[in-house]
Amino acid sequence: MNKYYPHLFSPIKVGRVTLKNRIMSAPMGLPEQSENRHLADFNIATHEARARGGAASSCVGDCCVSHEGRALIKQMCMDDPLVIPSLTRCARTIKRYDCVPVMELSHAGMFGMVPGLANPEATGRTSYGPVEMFMENGTHVVAMDEAEMARIAECYADSARKALMCGYEMIILHGGHGWMLNQFLSPAVNTRTDEYGGSTENRCRFPIRILKAIREAVGDQLAVDFRMSGDEIYEGGYRIDEGCRIAQCLEPYLDMIHISCGNHEVLDNFVRTHPDMFYEEGCNVQFAAEVKKHVKIPVACVGAISDPAMAEEIIASGKADVVCLARALVCDPDWPRKARAGKPEEIRTCMRCMACQSIVPTTRLIWCTLNPECGNELDVRCVQPPRELKKVLIAGGGPAGMQAAVKAAERGHHVILCEATGALGGQILCEKHIPFKKNYYKFSQWLIRQVRSYKNIDVRMNTPVTRELVDEIAPDTLICAVGSVDLVPPIPGIDKKNVLFPADLSRDTMPEFGDRVVIIGGGLVGCETAVHLKREGKKVTIVEMKDNWAQDAHFFHRVGLDVELRGQVEILLNTTAKEIRDDGLVVVGADGEERLIPADTVFVGAGRKPLSDVREALRDTEADPEFFAIGDCVKPGTALWAVHGGYFTALNI
Ligand SMILES: Cc1cc2nc3c(=O)[nH]c(=O)nc-3n(C[C@H](O)[C@H](O)[C@H](O)COP(=O)(O)O)c2cc1C
Repeated sequence: MNKYYPHLFSPIKVGRVTLKNRIMSAPMGLPEQSENRHLADFNIATHEARARGGAASSCVGDCCVSHEGRALIKQMCMDDPLVIPSLTRCARTIKRYDCVPVMELSHAGMFGMVPGLANPEATGRTSYGPVEMFMENGTHVVAMDEAEMARIAECYADSARKALMCGYEMIILHGGHGWMLNQFLSPAVNTRTDEYGGSTENRCRFPIRILKAIREAVGDQLAVDFRMSGDEIYEGGYRIDEGCRIAQCLEPYLDMIHISCGNHEVLDNFVRTHPDMFYEEGCNVQFAAEVKKHVKIPVACVGAISDPAMAEEIIASGKADVVCLARALVCDPDWPRKARAGKPEEIRTCMRCMACQSIVPTTRLIWCTLNPECGNELDVRCVQPPRELKKVLIAGGGPAGMQAAVKAAERGHHVILCEATGALGGQILCEKHIPFKKNYYKFSQWLIRQVRSYKNIDVRMNTPVTRELVDEIAPDTLICAVGSVDLVPPIPGIDKKNVLFPADLSRDTMPEFGDRVVIIGGGLVGCETAVHLKREGKKVTIVEMKDNWAQDAHFFHRVGLDVELRGQVEILLNTTAKEIRDDGLVVVGADGEERLIPADTVFVGAGRKPLSDVREALRDTEADPEFFAIGDCVKPGTALWAVHGGYFTALNI
């Protein structure tokens, strides 16, 4: 028995399958597969990392049972027999680590082949769903008739056969979030008047028909799990009481039920289905706990679970039998292994910044702000050890500098990490008083622990790197990660006492904000600060020169910001700050009119200025080491660029 998390690390039987612990890797599609929509070697490497990290299972997400049902251009289609080799190799790789290979089967229904950024190849203006309708983008949704339903049921059965043949031991049917099976379950979408619409039992009929077809095809040779939204969380959708009844209807055909929430019909819901940083940890476990009271089969829960102690409590208290982790394993695939060893402090905790989700519809890659290896596992594994060990001097102990130091030290180099101030952490220190950024702040503490754990990193605090110091140390490599400073716009009154800057938030105690706050700058920093302040009960106004706000935020993070700000914080676009006075901010509005916004505090989130003078001075020294500049001192950006810059620069030394 594991002495740290005994419930979390106890095995459980699901159908014929034994999971070695209660941690399943939640379904995640890997849209970056090869051009022909088969798993690429680097996709398999991602699964291998999760399997090696100690999860009980790794799931190949969103395998579409029929090509017209894909929502993304690069989605695996199970009606293409050529998917079999790579799927088989993936299953075999997962199994090497005593990890159960799982396949998720899905069909997007009315969202299948819908043209859009996510699916630019789609030509179809026709898709299939429970009822006929015309979508806003002009797609004609054809109501599925008997023959089409029979065909789709057979597609599921055939996909299950293929999954079994490829070596998968469990399948998860995606019946949540708004895809086809959820479209049938949802009273908001499914308004059919035949035996497939109306009552709960009728709306369950098509998913049950599919489950029966699967059982006929594979019997109990595969464990069958059904992922559903316990609560669709929107008006017109079903709520948790009906979610429990749906679970009961499906139960006889299942080995496990997996309770998520939400529906794509409402964009705001997306950041609840995939809880963003503004939601509490484990905010959706309640739905699984409710379903668990009504069924006898094992229940899996999902959503913002990142703390092993919380996961243990969920299992121990009987809220659910299994926890599914998606982003927690994106951020640290070794999460289960570290928890099992009783070292939760070694886990790199996901901060739910939505970077991983937001990139899927655009570049169709996966990445993680805090884990540069995610999606690059294969590249990273193939990197050769350094040809010679070097003396590496790093200027700046922010996220870029620390990450570079850790990676360079891991590769065996001798690292001297110099920080000009008395604290490591750089920009992240501005987040320490913001509750919803606590996992980002935690990352800085994690990096500091990593830095301190390497004997070959010599940390020198209060040590600005000057040309003289470089010449004195004479490093082989110099990494400049000196960062940026708050931009101070030339606005009259900018030096008044009622003005605060982001850097002020890094003080030991949070500076005092008055009850009425005007924020100059509607970028990410300004908007996140606005969320924090309005949650503190302040009246907040954002003033932005451009015609849009938070343009620098990851797409889905912006959705979450919108949920938080809409109707609660006034955002004035095309508006210029003219003068800061003791009683507020004078602005020139979109209409050219000048007016005073009364305020007690003016917060200036007007952007950042790279310390380019320092950078350029260091570039050209007598010692003339190999030189790299990374992070904000090159171009202020998100944490992702800093962390990745640090990691990959050090990897190549
Ligand atoms: C990058 C990414 C891809 C995902 N792809 C899928 C998918 O293909 N199928 C699915 O059912 N859920 C998918 N999800 C949703 C997750 O399975 C999970 O329900 C959600 O992220 C909430 O869990 P978390 O807070 O542990 O991340 C995806 C999530 C992420 C972050």
